[in-house]
Amino acid sequence: MTTEFLSLLCLGLCLGYEGDKENEKPSKPSLHAWPSLVAEAESNVTLKCRAPSQNVTFTLRKVNDSAYQRKQSSAGNEAEFPFTDLKPEDAGRYFCAYKTAVSHEWSEGSEPLQLVVTDKHDELEAPSMKTVAHVCNPRTVGR
Ligand SMILES: *[C@@H]1O[C@H](CO)[C@@H](O)[C@H](O)[C@H]1NC(C)=O
Ligand SMILES: *[C@@H]1O[C@H](CO)[C@@H](O)[C@H](O)[C@H]1NC(C)=O
Ligand SMILES: *[C@@H]1O[C@H](CO)[C@@H](O)[C@H](O)[C@H]1NC(C)=O
Repeated sequence: MTTEFLSLLCLGLCLGYEGDKENEKPSKPSLHAWPSLVAEAESNVTLKCRAPSQNVTFTLRKVNDSAYQRKQSSAGNEAEFPFTDLKPEDAGRYFCAYKTAVSHEWSEGSEPLQLVVTDKHDELEAPSMKTVAHVCNPRTVGR
């Protein structure tokens, strides 16, 4: 009874102080990319989500793609979501959230990460020819 009253009271107060009072809500997880957020097509990237507590279920979501959802349980406080053979459509903004065995609801999402998938052949086109052409430009030479 008292607990219920306090919960309601806190709910009211906490809603009013959303932003600086994070006590009621589990804190955000963090999301990292390994080895890098910018990856060539067909390569592999792993997104790692880290929670502030152990033994949690993680979910990886994609911004603006509500159908995208990956889940993973971990006895520790980190989960790895591997992407192998990256495709251009894998690019986008990802975020993760977690829930504990007792919380039953997802935490606030992590800050989103923008995964960039570059064209596999970008780096094979050496810019040396263009540089030479520029140096030999008669307008440059004529001055
Ligand atoms: C990507 O991962 C797959 C599966 O684990 C592996 O077979 C492949 O060699 C990896 N590719 C690169 C470029 O590391
Ligand atoms: C979400 O995706 C749709 C279709 O891909 C696009 O038209 C829209 O601009 C996107 N919205 C945001 C906020 O990125
Ligand atoms: C981890 O959570 C599961 C339920 O999700 C529970 O059954 C298990 O006992 C928990 N393990 C530890 C070490 O807390």
